[in-house]
Amino acid sequence: MKTILITGGAGFIGSHVVRLFVKKYPECKIVNLDALTYAGNLENLKDIENAPNYVFEKADIVDADHIFSLFEKYQFDGVIHLAAESHVDRSIANPMEFIHSNVIGTVNLLNAARAFWKEPEGKRFYHVSTDEVYGSLGEDGLFTETTAYDPRSPYSASKASSDHFVRAWHHTYNLPVVLSNCSNNYGPNQFPEKLLPLFINNIILNRPLPVYGKGENVRDWLYVIDHARAIDMIFHQGKIGETYNIGGHNEWKNIDLIKVLCQIMDRKLNREAGTSEKLITYVKDRAGHDMRYAIDASKVEKELGWVPSLQFEEGLEKTIDWYLANKEWIENVTSGAYQKYYKEQYEER
Ligand code: NAD
Ligand code: TYD
Repeated sequence: MKTILITGGAGFIGSHVVRLFVKKYPECKIVNLDALTYAGNLENLKDIENAPNYVFEKADIVDADHIFSLFEKYQFDGVIHLAAESHVDRSIANPMEFIHSNVIGTVNLLNAARAFWKEPEGKRFYHVSTDEVYGSLGEDGLFTETTAYDPRSPYSASKASSDHFVRAWHHTYNLPVVLSNCSNNYGPNQFPEKLLPLFINNIILNRPLPVYGKGENVRDWLYVIDHARAIDMIFHQGKIGETYNIGGHNEWKNIDLIKVLCQIMDRKLNREAGTSEKLITYVKDRAGHDMRYAIDASKVEKELGWVPSLQFEEGLEKTIDWYLANKEWIENVTSGAYQKYYKEQYEER
């Protein structure tokens, strides 16, 4: 039986990856390692927590001894590394946490894999990263796998750094690695600090919708389950040492996306058309706000046959329906420390 370590499995994307692997590969043991920070929530995995091939380990990837002891205990065959601090605004306020988890945490995992994998045959270390490492695009062009790195926020700088360490461990120590850089994800279980879940929750609560700057920044949105499907394909079929860009061919200017969201929310909540749009409030821009991200995903499409399965409108409806049906989830994750975060981020903006 193969044993696969998935880090950050209690978070947004990680929980979808864990669920996919637990269900699709009953012959593999899936170990979900997560520190359960504010973003990690085992409720995300309630439906599979008793599966015979699933194990949860609470651990911080910054704690090298603990990570080594888990490699000793489980003798992992593969690693899919998603654990990270993931929110740009938080990285602007507290960059050191990002350096600890995203850089040092990643190097701890690389060191453990290197120490335990004397023979690279059959082993694989998959590092999940972001398109934000490539910096910001102008009106034209797309990020490809050969675009030069140009990270501009503490978050993207920490992810870029971790990407470089992963490649360095491959080139220097022959560690069998594979990487992917993905565009903005959306879908169920995303913490309501990122644009879509924050705005869905604020519309439900009749709170202002804080649009940074003029709302003209562009993001390329991908449904989280399509990202999880790509991760599955790359983990199993991707070439060692290679990087794959993943994206939705789905660019939206923030303000246009927000207006579509408002229209759907009015319909779902039986509110008069135009009600949610009145909540739009232009606020001070994010420091160093990247203008545009967009991915050329042709490599993963041509080499591995991956394509997004959902049209954006369908994904957005599914996402909204999930949040409307899971108000208790939102209440749980927004109680406690979230209130302080929200006040600092928005009420004093
Ligand atoms: P998330 O913030 O929802 O989840 C991160 C998870 O990692 C949480 O469960 C948290 O508890 C855990 N974690 C954080 N620090 C840890 C530590 N020191 N030790 C152990 N666990 C720790 O993030 P997400 O949006 O699901 O992103 C997952 C990964 O995908 C990240 O590496 C991120 O950079 C990458 N990514 C995200 C997006 C996106 O749009 N969200 C896009 C591309 C890539
Ligand atoms: P976000 O979801 O934080 O993802 P990222 O910054 O990693 O792309 O933000 C998506 C876009 O929405 C980004 O251009 C910033 C903008 N934004 C707002 O206008 N208001 C908000 O409250 C948030 C959280 C984001």
